[in-house]
Amino acid sequence: MTFAYALARPLLFSLDAETAHGLTIRALKTGLLPPAPRPDPILATKIAGLALPSPLGLAAGFDKNAEVPDAVLRMGFGFAEVGTITPLPQTGNPRPRMFRLVEDGAVINRLGFNNQGLAAALVRLKARQRRGIVGVNVGANKDSEDRIADYVAGVAAVRDVADYLTINISSPNTPGLRALQSKDALADLIGRCLEARAEGPPLFVKIAPDLTTDDIADIAEVAQSSGIDGLIVSNTTIARPEGLRGSSRTETGGLSGKPLFAPATEVLRQIFRATGGRVPLIGVGGISSGADAYAKLRAGASAVQLYTALAYAGPGLPARINADLAALLRRDGLKTVTAAVGLDS
Ligand code: FNR
Repeated sequence: MTFAYALARPLLFSLDAETAHGLTIRALKTGLLPPAPRPDPILATKIAGLALPSPLGLAAGFDKNAEVPDAVLRMGFGFAEVGTITPLPQTGNPRPRMFRLVEDGAVINRLGFNNQGLAAALVRLKARQRRGIVGVNVGANKDSEDRIADYVAGVAAVRDVADYLTINISSPNTPGLRALQSKDALADLIGRCLEARAEGPPLFVKIAPDLTTDDIADIAEVAQSSGIDGLIVSNTTIARPEGLRGSSRTETGGLSGKPLFAPATEVLRQIFRATGGRVPLIGVGGISSGADAYAKLRAGASAVQLYTALAYAGPGLPARINADLAALLRRDGLKTVTAAVGLDS
């Protein structure tokens, strides 16, 4: 933990989680955070043709409005995903709607895609100098009459300012959204989004961890036949694993952080197996250390992301994970990140 964060953390943790998050975004906007060291060159890797200085990225939901992607990259992340952005601005669910489970290293959120909408994000994304890989995650408005049309609008709007696109069909906080993961709906959605993407950047689909074996087989099949560039596995879970201790454990919403690590890694491994390693995967869910990131790679991820652990450990975390991951690769005699992918599948 950096000295500055050791001072700031008790203040942030005395505040409501969402208020603390707002302060964090404001602090990042000042641009005063000292840059992290460049990731160890052994970490340089590729996914879907994107050159990443490190396989560790920031997951969606932290920078919903594309306000601080470059500050995030300076923290040592190899890539940053902004969003989820919906076509129209929306306020999301009533507050409080984000809860820390400190004893569990976890968070439950039911934000419900609160965001400023595509137009506001586009202004910021267009103004960037485009140094570093920034993906844009798009979603559907809660009250939309045609949700697929919302994804198509999102893809078309941001394809020229994004290094990759993510269609997020796995938030538990927009009723009915996850039904788009069923086989026919998914194939239709992907087909229309790929058409809208045209010559644009790689397109990823982000899925939930709460899937049956049949769901996984269907998604693996559509992923391979549809021409998408990869899957992001996974979003938060609506399950409540046994042993949660935080007093907010019964809140409605998606659970993220440490208790998500094992179930999300298992789904990742199953998807890797079901696709025979032919579909690039980004592993997300409960990563808080270099060892966790390494385990996701070994389970089948070509790159990884985190969010919740950043709130607990602060801005020094990405650099620490980079250093520890590089050491683990060397310990095991691996010369590249790619060499680790799927070793434990
Ligand atoms: C998220 N996540 C998320 N994902 C997404 O695709 N769009 C979003 O808008 C959000 N919003 C969001 C808000 C909050 C407060 C949290 C904690 C999470 C999910 C996130 O990207 C990630 O998939 C999960 O949190 C699992 O990773 P971690 O947090 O366990 O590292």
